[in-house]
Amino acid sequence: RTVFVFNGPNLSRLGTREPDVYGAETFEDLEALCRRTGRDLGLTVDVRQTDDEAELVSWLHEAADGAVPVVLNPAAFTHYSYALRDAIAQRTAPLIEVHISNPAAREEFRHTSVVAAVASGTIAGFGLRSYELALRAIAETA
Ligand code: DQA
Repeated sequence: RTVFVFNGPNLSRLGTREPDVYGAETFEDLEALCRRTGRDLGLTVDVRQTDDEAELVSWLHEAADGAVPVVLNPAAFTHYSYALRDAIAQRTAPLIEVHISNPAAREEFRHTSVVAAVASGTIAGFGLRSYELALRAIAETA
C-alpha cells in the first residue's frame, strides 16, 4: 500500500539550510531514507516537497479522497496554517506530524502547532529518523 510523505516550505534546502539545526543530509537523502524504510515495511512511499501552501492543501485533499496515510512535515506552516489544519481534519487514514528538530526546545513561536490536535500523533527531534519512526508507526497502525 501507498503512504504519502509530504514536506512543507524550505525542506528542499536540507543539507545547506542551517545544518547545525537540521543536519548535513540533503532532501535527496531524506527521499532515499523514506523509500528504503518503505521497502523494508512493504510500503510504497511517495515523497513530495512544496513551498506552496495551496499545493500542500491540494495534496492533503488527494490523501483524504484516497484514504492514503500521510507522514507530514508542515515546516513553518505548523505554527500558523489553519488551512492546513482544516485540510488534515478531513481525512480518515492516519496522519503523523513529523519534525526534524524538536520545536519545543526552540524559539517560542515554534512551541505552538496548529495541526497537532488533528494529527494521529507527532514525532519530533530525531533528525531524519523522525520520518523512519513515523513510517514504522503507520506500518503498525494503518
Ligand atoms: C521543522 C520545524 C519548524 O519549526 C521549521 O519551521 C521547519 C522545520 C522541523 O522539521 O524541525 O521548517 O518542521
